[in-house]
Amino acid sequence: MNFYVLTLFPDMIMDGLRTSITGRAMEAGLIHIEAVNIRDFTKDKHKHVDDYPYGGGAGMVMQAEPVYNAYQYLCEKTGKKLKVVYMTPQGRTFTQKVAEEFAVEDDLVLLCGHYEGIDERVLELIVTDYVSIGDFVLTGGELPAMAIIDTVSRLVPGVLNNDDSAEIESFHDDLLEYPQYTRPVEFMGKKVPDVLLSGHHKNIEAWRLEQSISRTKERRPDLYAKYEANHPVVEKKKR
Ligand code: ADE
Repeated sequence: MNFYVLTLFPDMIMDGLRTSITGRAMEAGLIHIEAVNIRDFTKDKHKHVDDYPYGGGAGMVMQAEPVYNAYQYLCEKTGKKLKVVYMTPQGRTFTQKVAEEFAVEDDLVLLCGHYEGIDERVLELIVTDYVSIGDFVLTGGELPAMAIIDTVSRLVPGVLNNDDSAEIESFHDDLLEYPQYTRPVEFMGKKVPDVLLSGHHKNIEAWRLEQSISRTKERRPDLYAKYEANHPVVEKKKR
């Protein structure tokens, strides 16, 4: 899968994602991540990419032309009319479901704004999807783009060591993940639950599901309500 990021801070994207699992996935050729510097596409001799907003007001606005040219460069390079996701608190909220939607694509272009945003005209011309990572305002779209690339990458086959770990983890089936333990058996007087040492796979599975359910109920009542609505039979048995 190819991730392209249109940004004024390409190092932030590449340095952040070169480590750990995404870095390994890049090296293995499972994903391709390319940060395109919007500043390289300005015709301004001082390399300015922003200007004052028409109508006045605080801050600067990113100009349409360099953004448009950077996008055109990617389309020419790939030979495709690429879809563009704009990182903005005004977008639909990014969730695991949205990540699954993105993971079936061959290419994903993530557009990062800065300052007071980007000239609306270029957004109208190239953006196909507006996505937010939550109801808070960051200084730019780079961290959201990195969060999205990380989340989508782990859904790409082969990126995680264990093929099914992407399936079991939090939010699959509207449940949070069950608690995990590793050696030693006792730490600061706290023991690993007996069932996990029993070797009885059916009991372990049942215990984990029970833990997932109670944890979701306590920590994320909003998610639990969804789970309950989708699993009326299982829930009746539990009560
Ligand atoms: N840019 C600034 N804040 C953002 C957010 N919460 N989500 C996506 N892009 C953003």
